[in-house]
Amino acid sequence: MNYRFIQVQSLTPLIGAEVSGVDLCAPLSDAVFAEIHQAWMDHLVLFFRDQPMSSAQHLAFGQRFGELHIHPAAPYVQDNPALMQIHTDKDSFRNNGEGWHSDVSADAEPPMASILHLHQTPSHGGDTLWANMYEAYATLSTPIQKLLADLSAVHVADYSGFYGAHAPQRENPSAVHPVVRTHPVTGRKALFVNSGFTQRIKGLQRDESDGILALLFAHIKNPNFHCRFQWRPDSVALWDNRCTQHMAVWDYFPQTRHGIRVTIKGDRPV
Ligand code: SIN
Repeated sequence: MNYRFIQVQSLTPLIGAEVSGVDLCAPLSDAVFAEIHQAWMDHLVLFFRDQPMSSAQHLAFGQRFGELHIHPAAPYVQDNPALMQIHTDKDSFRNNGEGWHSDVSADAEPPMASILHLHQTPSHGGDTLWANMYEAYATLSTPIQKLLADLSAVHVADYSGFYGAHAPQRENPSAVHPVVRTHPVTGRKALFVNSGFTQRIKGLQRDESDGILALLFAHIKNPNFHCRFQWRPDSVALWDNRCTQHMAVWDYFPQTRHGIRVTIKGDRPV
């Protein structure tokens, strides 16, 4: 794909690209935004380096994609629940997003996109991995694809104890979503179960559901579907929760990793 206004360098053949020639601290023209959106659809996750965005600029970039999503329970900064805090340090007992997941998939309308801006990174480590769920679906054998076609799964969030003394924004959500969803923009099919939130497949016996979910959770761990991003201060990642999952590696204890995530509302998976 040729772009007129931005440069796009793939990280892997299947997922992830670094975008340059863009200043996210300034308002984006419609033409530049359209190219970023196209590159995002093509590569699923985009990375931008050296973007010292203010919170207002971060929110403005998020609002180009749609209405902002409020996390059910995570702490936020500047009294604005749309500015989710991502913070791990020597006193942390857990790391946000350390297992494979699609953000808040337990919402009835899970977020379509997340934009993470890291301000402080450890001296090394603290990478994030993303997995391509189109590819995860496409590489299943036809009999398994047929089995999944009519199945839906229960997604449950339980944030109790996750965020210390921080009072949740709303009740823990839960929802039923198709196991395979169709991306509303690309029309491609993507596997939509994740070990962070998906608890069981509806209509199956417990052992059947556990067995199929274990198979799918193991399948998405195939590194052929993955990219891995090494953060630096003022790196930004934009990912599509409709066709990717991600996990944040916590290999840098006791160092600090800090940033802000802005998340964009999505629609009901079909
Ligand atoms: C998340 O949004 O799940 C956290 C990702 C990260 O910290 O890299």
